Amino acid sequence: MSSQNIYILGIESSCDDTAASVICNGKILSNVIASQKIHEEYGGVVPELASRAHQQNIVPVVHQALEKAGVSKSDLNAIAFTRGPGLMGSLLVGTSFAKSLAYGLNIPLIDVNHMQAHILAHFIDEEGFDKPTFPFLAMTISGGHTQIVKVNSYFNMEVIGETIDDAVGEAYDKSGKILGLGYPAGPEIDKRAQQGNPKAFKFTKPRVEGLNFSFSGLKTAILYFIQRETKNNPNFVKENLNDICASIQYTIIGILMDKLKLATKQTNIKQIAIGGGVSANSGIRKALKDGEQKFGWKTYVPKFEFTTDNAAMIAIVGYLKYLENDFADTSVTASARLKI
Ligand code: KG4
Ligand code: ZN
Repeated sequence: MSSQNIYILGIESSCDDTAASVICNGKILSNVIASQKIHEEYGGVVPELASRAHQQNIVPVVHQALEKAGVSKSDLNAIAFTRGPGLMGSLLVGTSFAKSLAYGLNIPLIDVNHMQAHILAHFIDEEGFDKPTFPFLAMTISGGHTQIVKVNSYFNMEVIGETIDDAVGEAYDKSGKILGLGYPAGPEIDKRAQQGNPKAFKFTKPRVEGLNFSFSGLKTAILYFIQRETKNNPNFVKENLNDICASIQYTIIGILMDKLKLATKQTNIKQIAIGGGVSANSGIRKALKDGEQKFGWKTYVPKFEFTTDNAAMIAIVGYLKYLENDFADTSVTASARLKI
């Protein structure tokens, strides 16, 4: 193997996905994920079950990532792991495993901020995908996060807006629960929304100062609306499901776009990168494309497997930090509320 090749193993275990990935320089060689189905029957992630599943999955997932990459442990230059933010019990599994492996192999350990990783996933070398140039705005939207970040350089980022309550993915999932849909409900609401009338029902947008978001009021408004309508017509949801989904989606995308427009105005930055599970949404993708036409934006949507929780994004941050000799001390601890 050439000495210029830097091999990093990335490990992600912040929520309900156990993931491992091997990167060689900027290119992903493997990206393995074990998603935990167990949470579906509970309609949300159960932290105790998540940490137990991570313990079961972490060894086989890491093993598979190395095997698929065709790389052996002795080839690795460093181990990168998610330090936070996330569920403490889940983070502890990945953190302890990464520490032991780095110690055993006598190679550097690199701690990674999960939120930075969602953003830096845009710097993975991938044919057909452009990389943003600095500065750019990043909007991270998933079941656990809703943030707008001004990205000045790889490791100089400022959170300029974030949710004060629920994340946008939670707004989808909780609305879905009210409508009797399965968990997570985002993909089904999106699918049905495309067949419904977005203006059939009107939900008011929350009033939140500046670039911050709020989604808990919307969830309550939807709950009361459905309760009221089903009192008059018990089949209301069944008969209007596509229109209800389209109206919810229209409201949520409207909230995201209002804040994004404000952010581009305030910062005078027109490059926008998105990440997180909700970036798969057809409505947000269309709205971003429209923004390119209407406002001269340049938008970046990464390959799907790099937008939801994954370890490739941890590995790319590991590589970027490796180049800067930015290593963690072996006394590093997991941090559930780690900030950008
Ligand atoms: O990034 P992710 O896989 O996990 C974390 O939450 O960190 O995101 C999952 C979230 C769920 O809330 C799911 O409902 C939502 O992303 N989601 C969607 C779509 N696909 C996934 N929401 C709206 N439209 C979609 N197409
Ligand atoms: Zn995430």
